[in-house]
Amino acid sequence: MVLTGMAQKTISIATKSNVLILETDKDNSVISTYIGRKLDNDDEYSAIQQLDKYVPGSDDLFNKREAYIASGSLNLLEPALSVTHADGNKSTVLEFLSVDEKQIDPNRKLTVVHLKDPKYNFEVALNYLAYFKEDVIEQWAEIKHQEKGAIVLNKYASANLTLSGKKFFLKNHYSGWGREMRSEEQQLLHGIKTIDSKLGTRENLLNSSSFMVSVDRPATEDQGDVIAGSLEWTGNFKLDFETFDEYYLRITAGINNFPSDYTLKPGENFVTPRLVYTYSSNGRGQASRNLQNWARSYQLREGSGERLSILNNWETTYFDFNDEKLSSLILDTKKLGVDVFLLDDGWFGNKYPRNNATGGLGDWQYNRQKLKNGISTLGKEATAAGVKFGIWLEPEMVNPKSELYENHPDWIIRQPERREYYMRNQLVLDLTNPKVQDFVYQTVDDIFKEVPELGFIKWDCNSLIYNANSPTLKNQGSFYVDYVRGLNKVLERIRKKYPKTPMMLCAGGGSRVDYAALQYFTEFWPSDNTNPFDRIFIQWEYSYYFPSIAMDNHITAMGSQPLKFKTDVAMMGKLGYDVKVNELSPKDLSFSQNAVAVYNSIKDIIWHGQQYRLQDPYENSVASVAYVNEQQTTAIVFNYYVSTLISPAITIPIKLKGLDASKKYKIEEINQYPGSRSYIDKDKVYSGDFLMKIGFNPQVDARRTSVVLKVTAI
Ligand code: DGJ
Repeated sequence: MVLTGMAQKTISIATKSNVLILETDKDNSVISTYIGRKLDNDDEYSAIQQLDKYVPGSDDLFNKREAYIASGSLNLLEPALSVTHADGNKSTVLEFLSVDEKQIDPNRKLTVVHLKDPKYNFEVALNYLAYFKEDVIEQWAEIKHQEKGAIVLNKYASANLTLSGKKFFLKNHYSGWGREMRSEEQQLLHGIKTIDSKLGTRENLLNSSSFMVSVDRPATEDQGDVIAGSLEWTGNFKLDFETFDEYYLRITAGINNFPSDYTLKPGENFVTPRLVYTYSSNGRGQASRNLQNWARSYQLREGSGERLSILNNWETTYFDFNDEKLSSLILDTKKLGVDVFLLDDGWFGNKYPRNNATGGLGDWQYNRQKLKNGISTLGKEATAAGVKFGIWLEPEMVNPKSELYENHPDWIIRQPERREYYMRNQLVLDLTNPKVQDFVYQTVDDIFKEVPELGFIKWDCNSLIYNANSPTLKNQGSFYVDYVRGLNKVLERIRKKYPKTPMMLCAGGGSRVDYAALQYFTEFWPSDNTNPFDRIFIQWEYSYYFPSIAMDNHITAMGSQPLKFKTDVAMMGKLGYDVKVNELSPKDLSFSQNAVAVYNSIKDIIWHGQQYRLQDPYENSVASVAYVNEQQTTAIVFNYYVSTLISPAITIPIKLKGLDASKKYKIEEINQYPGSRSYIDKDKVYSGDFLMKIGFNPQVDARRTSVVLKVTAI
């Protein structure tokens, strides 16, 4: 909505509960005036800017809260944009030109604010795509020019967001292999806090590109003002949180410009990645549901669709298998009752057989020693057994011990004069090179041709980019950007030809989990750490941004918890197994077969329902998470004992959320281990009101460490 009144033009980008207000000032700059809950009266938005203490010409710093700060002229705070113009000048000023609004459909509206430099033929279009029902905005910038020669973009962020408040608290997530999405929260004091990645691939190995900022006080699950965001970029990113004055916070999010000066020719259009964000005045829980709902409806591949449960062989065989073993694993898949057998690493390479991680990557022909009958036979066997066949690939990578390395040294990212460094004995292929893009695409296409039944792909990525340099790229300044664009081009082509095949995004665990990649992938591998105790925390943190339908959780040998505990944790997402089915005791096998059937009966609620975090594992001895269906007639509640103390029975009830207060519900325990007794009276009736105000005790303790409840309206 555009309002003109007083001296300024007011542009409002509204969703169901919130609004982002942009306004022009007397210099024709576009100011970010407000982001937060909607006001009751639209005509009062224009009054907000007048309360701003900034007085032009005063002794104060010229620190206008511009919607997209350009550097080199008057605004000296952290810029979103920094440009070297064709004449070498480094200053840019952006003035309001026009605004376009387009209602794409009843739920989505695109607002484009056009800005122009008064001196240069240089323009930026700020795009805001508002998702009304989900309370979500995607924001990005498009930069173009018609100067006399090429310009250089020294910084080109996707978005600047300005929040005002008394204090700001950043919840960010740091990671390492096997310990993804650890969380910390800190008050942002004056200065800039930067969270970034310069790793090239596996951009989230150290830091997540998803974050939350609470205003005034740290938000809790259900209270407080919080903005949750995630950068949609599968590469180097930079999130700057700069506090200034008393008190504003400017969030600048985008591609990491270090060391990526990008040359832009006249007439070319540079489109930044999108920053997706949501604002919630009801705490983090609402923010996370907003993002999950948005992702399922608009971003995640097949977000509102179905998924396949998996038996994967990685942790049970590693590289040591042959046709015979795989044939029996295919039969085990059927026996267990899951949908797909996923053959992991180790099936390829002949001159350099992939018998361990030291060789073979890049040579995507099946290993004739291990697979005498070929992989096409495995596809047929799976179909005959009534399951699907899936395969692992790591097509962006190459081992120096490979025919690919020998034949195409110019396809590999390396600095000719520098020592080669191998992460997991491998190097990264140069996806800036169209020939390499063709090779990677062809690798995938060939597998589909060889195994027409192919029903699942796991796409791994285990090395960072060291010695960042393309042997063929003319201007290395665009290397990191072009790598990601090359990857996207390949994925685009694959998806054009194979739109439906489920694909798992994996990067040595969860080092590549972003919403740009998830438009091609149906799911991601959160971590190689499948210890269910750790997983409760890891999955908890991911769920602030990503829906459970996208999270692959496998039951493995990791962790000393009972099989039931492991199974329950894996059910909170996409269930899979990495176990030796033939070594399960009869009781464990029967429990697991039944668990798969139970899962099939509730998975729709876990995948498509609303997720409520009921009790935090960090602060309670019982962690609890619920999924509620849209009609509020069924909830599945997972409860875990997460304390190491042998404490007496826990008597404090857990308050449910998301039910209908006026409905009556019964509660039964499901997914019990054979022979165990439930303490839950399945005939007792409770009102939704009671369950949400008083709660329910799942009777979890050191002996009953995992309890799953099904709450059903009667
Ligand atoms: C790393 C992945 O995270 C694992 O799940 C497995 O696929 C291995 N790579 C295989 O090399």
